[in-house]
Amino acid sequence: MLKDESYATYYDLLYSHRNIQAEVDFIEKVLRECSLVPVKKVLDVGCGTGIHTLELAKRGYTAVGVDVSPAMIEAARRKAVGLPNVEFVLADATNLKFDREFDAAIAFYGVVSYFRDDDSLLKFFNSVRRALKKGAVFIFDTWSLVGVQAKRVYYETPFSSFRKAGSMLAIKEENWRIDFLEEVAYAEIQWSVIDLPRNEINVFKHDLTLRLFTLRELTHFLYESGFELCKTYEDYAGRPFTENSSEIVVVARAI
Ligand SMILES: C[S@@+](CC[C@H](N)C(=O)[O-])C[C@H]1O[C@@H](n2cnc3c(N)ncnc32)[C@H](O)[C@@H]1O
Repeated sequence: MLKDESYATYYDLLYSHRNIQAEVDFIEKVLRECSLVPVKKVLDVGCGTGIHTLELAKRGYTAVGVDVSPAMIEAARRKAVGLPNVEFVLADATNLKFDREFDAAIAFYGVVSYFRDDDSLLKFFNSVRRALKKGAVFIFDTWSLVGVQAKRVYYETPFSSFRKAGSMLAIKEENWRIDFLEEVAYAEIQWSVIDLPRNEINVFKHDLTLRLFTLRELTHFLYESGFELCKTYEDYAGRPFTENSSEIVVVARAI
């Protein structure tokens, strides 16, 4: 299996510890509090296997998921069979073709950190902004430079963890190196997925270069792209964002 296919195949297992119901409860709470338009149609940018897209559709929204990875979109489409109000589109989020048709957008689980240079980040924000109606909310999470710096030793210590879902076990080995001058983290991740009934072990690497942001930078790039900052949180439990938060959840509104 190709690396990209392995990641898509096992994605839901690898992240099965996440509480997607609670994350979508958070989305709905934020939409009630911050949106200036009634929310019927939601865009999920960098949707992966569509875990939020599908949950939003089950809750009655019309949901569209977009991802640049064919393997992710295929995995998402397989899960969407029988759901009429959901669609998955293979596209680059820096160049979306939608025009003011969505009432809200999300980009969850570090999607924004994939846009490492200012040019691609601005293209991404502009592209999402074009897809949204005025007054619509855009919710995303990313890494906070200040919080990661405070925990540098923790992040740069090689780390292994173990996950279990159904009949599969997964071992995650990660090694991070952070370049604070460039504001990026290089994460080398190796997954070993053990499929017990098939007696198979699938080992694959997933290396990432992730941009770290200050809130000031994000606010600036959002404003340049036609968004205002509404709220920030540390996580999807809605804890307040502080200088110790490694991650930041941003709620922006299209102006
Ligand atoms: C960590 S996954 C997050 C998936 C999902 N949002 C979630 O919460 O589980 C990041 C996703 O962003 C996608 N992605 C990265 N760059 C992209 C781009 N330029 N356009 C669209 N999707 C992109 C990747 O293919 C991947 O599926």
